[in-house]
Amino acid sequence: MISVTDAARAVLDCPEPMGKVRLAKACGRSVAAGTIAEIGLAAAPPRPGRPTRPRLCAPRHMARRRAAGSRAGRIALYHALAHIELNAIDLAFDLIARFADPALPWAFYAEWARIGAEEAHHFELLEGRLQAFGAAYGDLPAHDGLWEAALATSDDLLARLAVVPLVLEARGLDVTPGMITRLRGHGDGEGAAMLELILEEEIRHVAAGWRWFRWVAERRGMDPPAAWAGLVRTRYKGKIKPPFNQAARLAAGFDAGWLELVSSPDRAGTPARR
Ligand SMILES: [Fe+2]
Repeated sequence: MISVTDAARAVLDCPEPMGKVRLAKACGRSVAAGTIAEIGLAAAPPRPGRPTRPRLCAPRHMARRRAAGSRAGRIALYHALAHIELNAIDLAFDLIARFADPALPWAFYAEWARIGAEEAHHFELLEGRLQAFGAAYGDLPAHDGLWEAALATSDDLLARLAVVPLVLEARGLDVTPGMITRLRGHGDGEGAAMLELILEEEIRHVAAGWRWFRWVAERRGMDPPAAWAGLVRTRYKGKIKPPFNQAARLAAGFDAGWLELVSSPDRAGTPARR
């Protein structure tokens, strides 16, 4: 029997996007069926395998997205989202492979394997949408910001959870409803419905991020909200910017005072270090 770490490593190493999707979904299914039921040893590559296209550029070198109403604008939107989902597959399996630890419950690995399989489904949906417009993932340049944020938190599971699901993926909850409205306004009901499904699942992914963040913080004897605020200050370089999707954030486990925690540093405690 292979371990979940071995299966995660295979997903990470695979450079070809649809191959990565197939391996991610297979891992999710095997974990759900109990045919993968062992954690294994930590083994994450420094960078996941990626195709030669798209060309990766610094976020500041990305061309501005065109108007969502045009064909080119919609291709650019779906391409950017497909790139985020491809990163999300690797981020879920990197949590498994990098932070393999027998002190963590099996439920942690089972949950991130399921989430990684859902991210693979999101990528597949968006690639299908690109193809409906005569395009494909790889046609446009993409940026490497998500993986850079992951690399910056490779040393600590709590920092990774604080920044990746709880800052970067939570940002998706804020911006997706506007995209859905714009797509619907341009008569792209199919794309809008797809993003609605993705948003619903992303709320659950952020909620999982919170649940595991709390679990790890409490075991380290830290107060979870104060620990999160401290890690956002020390480990995340960007700013958390409005407008926020309060309803989605509350559903994902942000409590009412979350924004205050990260916007007024003197109110939050300093997190203890392991
Ligand atoms: Fe996703």
